[in-house]
Amino acid sequence: MKKRILLGVISGLIAGGGIVGCGEQKMPAGPEQDSGTAAELNADWPKLTSPIAKDPAIEARIDTLMAKMSVEEKVGQLIQVEIDSATPEDVKDYHIGSILNGGGHFPNSDKHASIADWVALADAFYAASMDTSDGGVAIPVIWGTDAVHGHNNVIGATLFPHNIALGATQNPELMRQIGAATAAEVSATGIDWVFAPTLAVTRDDRWGRSYESYSEDPEIVRSYGGKLVEGLQGIPGSKSLLSDKHVVSTAKHFIADGGTENGIDRGDAIMSEDELMKIHAQGYFSAIESGVQTVMASFSSWNGEKMHGHKYLLTDVLKGRLGFDGFIVGDWSGHQFVNGCSNVSCPQAINAGLDMFMAPDPNWKELYTNTVAEAKSGEIPAERLDDAVRRILRVKMRAGLFDAGAPSERAFAGDESLIGAPEHRAIARQAVRESLVLLKNNDNLLPLARDQRVLVAGDGADNIGKQTGGWTITWQGTGNENADFPGATSVYGGIAEAVESAGGSAELSVDGSFEQKPDVAIVVFGEDPYAEMQGDISNLAYKGERDLALLNRLREQNIPVVALFITGRPLWVNPHINASDAFVVIWQPGTEGGGVADVLFRDDAGNVSHDFKGKLTFSWPNDARPEVRNRGQNESLAQFGYGYGLTYADQEQMAALSEESGLQQTDANEALAVFNGRALDPWSFQVTDAGNNRTVIANSVVKLQGISVQSVDRNVQEDSRRLQWAGEGDAIAGFFANSRTDLSSYLNNRGALVFDVKVDRVPNDAVNLGMNCGMDCGAEQPITDLLEGAAPGEWKTLAVDLQCLAKGGAKLDMVLSPFYVRTAGELDLTIHDIHIASGAEDVDISCG
Ligand code: BGC
Ligand code: BGC
Repeated sequence: MKKRILLGVISGLIAGGGIVGCGEQKMPAGPEQDSGTAAELNADWPKLTSPIAKDPAIEARIDTLMAKMSVEEKVGQLIQVEIDSATPEDVKDYHIGSILNGGGHFPNSDKHASIADWVALADAFYAASMDTSDGGVAIPVIWGTDAVHGHNNVIGATLFPHNIALGATQNPELMRQIGAATAAEVSATGIDWVFAPTLAVTRDDRWGRSYESYSEDPEIVRSYGGKLVEGLQGIPGSKSLLSDKHVVSTAKHFIADGGTENGIDRGDAIMSEDELMKIHAQGYFSAIESGVQTVMASFSSWNGEKMHGHKYLLTDVLKGRLGFDGFIVGDWSGHQFVNGCSNVSCPQAINAGLDMFMAPDPNWKELYTNTVAEAKSGEIPAERLDDAVRRILRVKMRAGLFDAGAPSERAFAGDESLIGAPEHRAIARQAVRESLVLLKNNDNLLPLARDQRVLVAGDGADNIGKQTGGWTITWQGTGNENADFPGATSVYGGIAEAVESAGGSAELSVDGSFEQKPDVAIVVFGEDPYAEMQGDISNLAYKGERDLALLNRLREQNIPVVALFITGRPLWVNPHINASDAFVVIWQPGTEGGGVADVLFRDDAGNVSHDFKGKLTFSWPNDARPEVRNRGQNESLAQFGYGYGLTYADQEQMAALSEESGLQQTDANEALAVFNGRALDPWSFQVTDAGNNRTVIANSVVKLQGISVQSVDRNVQEDSRRLQWAGEGDAIAGFFANSRTDLSSYLNNRGALVFDVKVDRVPNDAVNLGMNCGMDCGAEQPITDLLEGAAPGEWKTLAVDLQCLAKGGAKLDMVLSPFYVRTAGELDLTIHDIHIASGAEDVDISCG
């Protein structure tokens, strides 16, 4: 746990304020926030009105309640805890307003928890929130969950294709049905609130959450966002609105989560306000106009300022101009990355307009205690506290929670027939059919006749975990087996059903070997599941050598090949396309794999009953270089442009595509300098001080909280940096970038991180040397002993085997920070000449 939090701090440094403009042209900055004075509103933001008007009766009921609430009770409403780090007793004692279950968190930590288990846990938390035996007011707790492609934490649920696939359907109406089906399944578990839709407009497909985005184009995101909200919450003005079979919806992650520099998860969106409005805000406009009741703040920053602390965007724009009168929830301890905040104290976020802390970590009680103190001292003004509480109570009342009784007493709770209901699966299967994008169909190989001998190959053929992607039962979607998906159909399952019912045969063979030569081979392959942070990549190459070999092997035997590519984003697959006769992007279709066969095969009468309908809503790359390619941006770098997608009517033959990846092989024989008197591109020298404030160091002398930095001379003027830690708490100094560097060639070539160091005061606490590759990605090596053993005032060269850092969790192909030093103790250290070298003979830190 400890390591995780610390890595979080490092990543905050990467994604945080400091790095604006490093190596990039700085865009106009967002309005100054620290002063607390309202920035002048840019009048280009539209003035919106939610269709759910304020109800005077609700407002009066809130007045009455709030008049009876203590500061402690009010602060409790502002805190959302996680089911694994809080008990119902805690909810009662701390007057907690909300709970969530994170991805892969289940009742009793049981992946196979039953519907009854979910409802029982919801009941327990509800009962605790309504327990007034100690005096005080009864306010029902609200439970939120990530039902982002169906109720994806629950065994047996209908799982829809991920958003990128839904975008390809070009069918906004379908979103309403998907939302309604999801809401029904969530209602069955007694849960009130869903953290969807994601309204990210992904601009750089290296981002590991690209698949959660409907499109790189704001138009689609806008046309979908409101519809999904209406599906989940019900239609404003109708009886369905927030009725029993509906749930509260969340527009997330506000704002520009999909616009971060180099597609770095939780990174920095460096852009003008105009771009923010025209691209990244569009989905929020339709969500608000459909009555969305909650918005989740993004982990990311806008022009270096963390969204969790962004008063202008949260308060002036969202709550002011855009007329949002629901509440803003944080994202997974995201408040800790606001300058000056920690995981357990962040009045800055509340004062900026955040209404509810998402506080999943076990230390949430400290956050509660500190927030109570900050409210009592006036650091959080009483009006702000009251406004936040009012907003939370308003949403709870609108959702009917005050009158609904215990979850188990609600109309659909415990109704197992809703989980994976046939009518929901039918919607999902339709979504699969409409989302498939046909990139190539030489000799009109497709559609296929059903009465054939079909070989179904590839590791994605009969692999429901793979076809459902991230946010599936577990957080990253890893570790699932077909048995975890009762009622689901694999791609192979759907094909087998289609051909066998028509007298054909389907042979499943992952490696493509067969007994009898097939008439046609269908090869299913592609990306394995991933989710936030872990899904980021450094270039657009699909690393599928084994799949390519399989395709080639089949073709060499004169078997026509249909490739079905499972992916969460466009990737460069030209070699695989060349090796196939027909190539279909099937995205991550979810549990209803039968939708694939519906389109690939003719019907019984030999007709086409479902043609291809899907069109790319993401531009497909013509090489693997890490370039941004979007509608209206670098369109010449697209192999298949926005809107591309063949149908059965198309006849063209596709000639062989270029197989030049465009990637340069780095020369691992040449050392790569990180610091040689100045930080080398793309890195900048940055410090996070003991008060969690991030600073890019440009001046020669900088004194920060608990750490000071000075440029000093070793051989020539200012060729070294002296770092003095005062022992006032954890502080970090090092080299960070907003773009990734691939150091993997060094790794395989006896690579080492090498630097010169002089110790003028030995450490009195643990010192770690770190390398970072993003949030929760990186490694640290203790160097305390090496520094303690150093002769004071004498220079020495230290080398750390890159293998140690790789083994410790650093992904060397996507490094953001190649070098940083962290300690909470006292230390006086001067560094000089930092580089990555290969062929290292002697290393000071080795890992065998
Ligand atoms: C994600 C959110 C999610 C939340 C709760 C965060 O890490 O960014 O999308 O809703 O966790 O699981
Ligand atoms: C949780 C996710 C969450 C993530 C954020 C995971 O442990 O299960 O829901 O989004 O942490 O770091």
